[in-house]
Amino acid sequence: PLPEPFGVALPIPPVLEPVSTDGGTDHYEITQRAAEIEILPGLRTEVWGYNGIFPGPTIVSRSNRPVAVTHRNELPVPVVVHLHGGKTPPEHDGYPTDMILPAGGPAPSGHESHGGQSVPLGDTSDGTRVYEFPLEQPAATLWYHDHRMDFTGPQVYRGLAGFHIVHDDVEDALPLPTGDRDVPLMICDRAFEEDGAFAYPSLDPGLQGEPGVENPYMSGVLGDVILVNGAPWPHMEVTGTRYRFRILNASNARRYKLALDPPPAEGAAFTQIGSDAGLLGAPVELDDIEAAPAERFDVVVDFSAYPIDSEVTLVNAFGEDGTAQVMRFRVVEEADDDTEIPDRLADFETLARADAVATRRVRFAREAANPGGGGNLWTINGETFDPDRVDFEPALGSTEVWRITTNVHHPVHLHLAHFQVLSRDGGDPGPYDAGWKDTIDLRDGEEAEILVRFTGYPGRYVYHCHNLEHEDMMMMANFTVV
Ligand code: C2O
Ligand code: CU
Repeated sequence: PLPEPFGVALPIPPVLEPVSTDGGTDHYEITQRAAEIEILPGLRTEVWGYNGIFPGPTIVSRSNRPVAVTHRNELPVPVVVHLHGGKTPPEHDGYPTDMILPAGGPAPSGHESHGGQSVPLGDTSDGTRVYEFPLEQPAATLWYHDHRMDFTGPQVYRGLAGFHIVHDDVEDALPLPTGDRDVPLMICDRAFEEDGAFAYPSLDPGLQGEPGVENPYMSGVLGDVILVNGAPWPHMEVTGTRYRFRILNASNARRYKLALDPPPAEGAAFTQIGSDAGLLGAPVELDDIEAAPAERFDVVVDFSAYPIDSEVTLVNAFGEDGTAQVMRFRVVEEADDDTEIPDRLADFETLARADAVATRRVRFAREAANPGGGGNLWTINGETFDPDRVDFEPALGSTEVWRITTNVHHPVHLHLAHFQVLSRDGGDPGPYDAGWKDTIDLRDGEEAEILVRFTGYPGRYVYHCHNLEHEDMMMMANFTVV
């Protein structure tokens, strides 16, 4: 039996303390391990967690201050860590075959089998690995999660995801809500077995051998319980003031249309101040938010628009039954509020088509595995993932137009490079496309153009569908920055 909604208080993931701050770098240590925690009241759920918790601990950093995270793998399977939205050199970006093997496990064979193909392992390490993040990028809500080749979906589902928040002086100078009125919200859906275990339809529940999910899950794995920061349909007590919410859709495959019920008597429900990769130039008012997997919406909600004692539910208009509700706010008392949402947020360089030095065509599609029909494949530019195939070689620092087409819905994510949405189906970008993005929510049959700026580091990076089951079905490809 599923719990009554809004029974548990919203947990806030703990902020991780650095183990040292030598030489201008913050050093952290994380152990990835299995743990039993209570998610559904009265039941135990085994999670695979960063430090054994789900969500993992939040890392809080400053822009331009490097961070080194030593990850130790005490799980029974290989892992890969990716800082999503990070501008990270390729050797630290969590390339899907650059695995950390289980501590004390057997020596690697040098190859793994992927959907019948044998693919060489990348840069593996034994037991531990240090990831270095220069963080030469502005304030943003980033997140880190597992990225193991072929098994990202089940490993994130078991709990390998956490926030990594970057602050900078521009953000500090703004009169936005801070402290306990700056709240990360990791939203995801999960299904549970009777005994409380996560229910995920892996072909190999041990996640050692055959990758993939059972056939009916070709479109991705959905759950019937909505978790926010790991708790089912939680509630949060708020004062009648402004709050900043860093909304992350960390679901494997579910899209949300978030709204407030009741909506505020006056004004928009949400004032968006940031998107995936940082603050917007100017705030955007939204009555609802469509969020695809991996997208972040940094928003302010002003609870002074509600009477004291109101209950305000964050709902999901794309859901039904349990998945139509996300969490509830209870406005418990008045409080002082000296925050504001300024008309100008960060300096924002709007890219234009004329900035682009190349136009690339990128095709996300579902294709029959063989011409006679039978078997389907998720492909990019006609092929499934091959680590040796490089689709594009953008020059470091250049801007390109990527014209992306799709047959069905896919959230398309690029590593390293941030982008702005230029058009959808030849028209303007959509209402949820503002700012610097790293993931675009492509709808069924849509064609979108994005302006991608390849600043950062030379090297090979992946881009892929962030429906994690599609990603594991090898809907992934490479570009190499030269
Ligand atoms: Cu959030 Cu390549 O992933
Ligand atoms: Cu997809």
